[in-house]
Amino acid sequence: MQSKTVNPTMSLSQTEFRNAMGQFATGVTILTVDLDGQVHGMTANAFASVSLDPLLVLVCVDHNARTHAHLHAKKRFGINVLCENQQAISQYYAQPVYAHDRAEASAGARFERTQHGTPVLHGALAYVECKLVSTHEAGDHTIFIAEVEDVVMREGKPLLFFRGSYRRIADDALD
Ligand SMILES: Cc1cc2nc3c(=O)[nH]c(=O)nc-3n(C[C@H](O)[C@H](O)[C@H](O)COP(=O)(O)O)c2cc1C
Repeated sequence: MQSKTVNPTMSLSQTEFRNAMGQFATGVTILTVDLDGQVHGMTANAFASVSLDPLLVLVCVDHNARTHAHLHAKKRFGINVLCENQQAISQYYAQPVYAHDRAEASAGARFERTQHGTPVLHGALAYVECKLVSTHEAGDHTIFIAEVEDVVMREGKPLLFFRGSYRRIADDALD
């Protein structure tokens, strides 16, 4: 097995840090928030479960993302866990330039609404509806901690992200 050790006496670059974090395989989510009847979405994999009592999750959002201001303003949002055939939706919502009214035509993203009006991505593997409880500044990101109000799950396999690329679980892996 090949290994690479970063010299601890040299300062670590952002690229080395990113590459090391890329070794941690994750799922992929779309954060969804209602903006005056329009759906705003953002691709995010800095998502984690935090607490069972109360039910808490966290997401980390870059200060420069438009979503940062939207989560602060709306305080209620959805976290949609993508299934393996939703890579186009992940790519769509990772681009800040798109007007999101092209989401269905460009990437096949369709939404329903919860009773609170929060957008739910059709076909997602899991949906978590959350209410913001606290924020914590952490460098160039903010950690948003939110209480879980509802969850929805469906059968299927996840879209994964590993070493900067999208991946899938092999066909026989879940048998
Ligand atoms: C797989 C993947 C995961 C990402 N995860 C995050 C994340 O956890 N937090 C974040 O701030 N940006 C993340 N991004 C980048 C945002 O999706 C991207 O900056 C997006 O354009 C921000 O959109 P907005 O400006 O509309 O909020 C990720 C991108 C990709 C492709």
